[in-house]
Amino acid sequence: MATNRTFTMVKPDAFADGNSGAILSMIEKAGFKLIAVKLTKLTAETAGKFYAVHSERPFYNDLCAYMSSGPIVAVILEKENAVADFRTLIGATNPANAAEGTIRKIFAKSIEANAVHGSDSDENAAIEGAFFFSELERI
Ligand code: CMP
Repeated sequence: MATNRTFTMVKPDAFADGNSGAILSMIEKAGFKLIAVKLTKLTAETAGKFYAVHSERPFYNDLCAYMSSGPIVAVILEKENAVADFRTLIGATNPANAAEGTIRKIFAKSIEANAVHGSDSDENAAIEGAFFFSELERI
């Protein structure tokens, strides 16, 4: 059964470009409620843990270096059908394939520097949210 929460990060490229506010505004206008928000910075080690599921992929080391290259904004979001609706809002992983009007189409630079993360399942949304936030840090 679909849950009503998902997890996102504004990635280092989008944060460095000053697009965090515009991205969060798009997310809120699409009907998502902010449940937890944190401005933070991953280390190569913590990025490696977050993306451990990709550890065998050829892009893993570059991904960990990139995700620890600058601040990120971690966010838990709530909306009915949150995981699927959020993936529609952000568009395809590769911005070259992202639909017009999606967050990645507007803000992403490349398949790696793709502006935002979005959980791919309810199970991973719960795991990823717990990676950054304790229960006390959520409304
Ligand atoms: P994200 O949704 O955060 O999950 C894994 C990330 O790996 C993905 O976004 C991309 O930023 C990054 N990545 C880099 N290269 C690739 C690739 N070739 N295929 C898929 N993801 C990639």
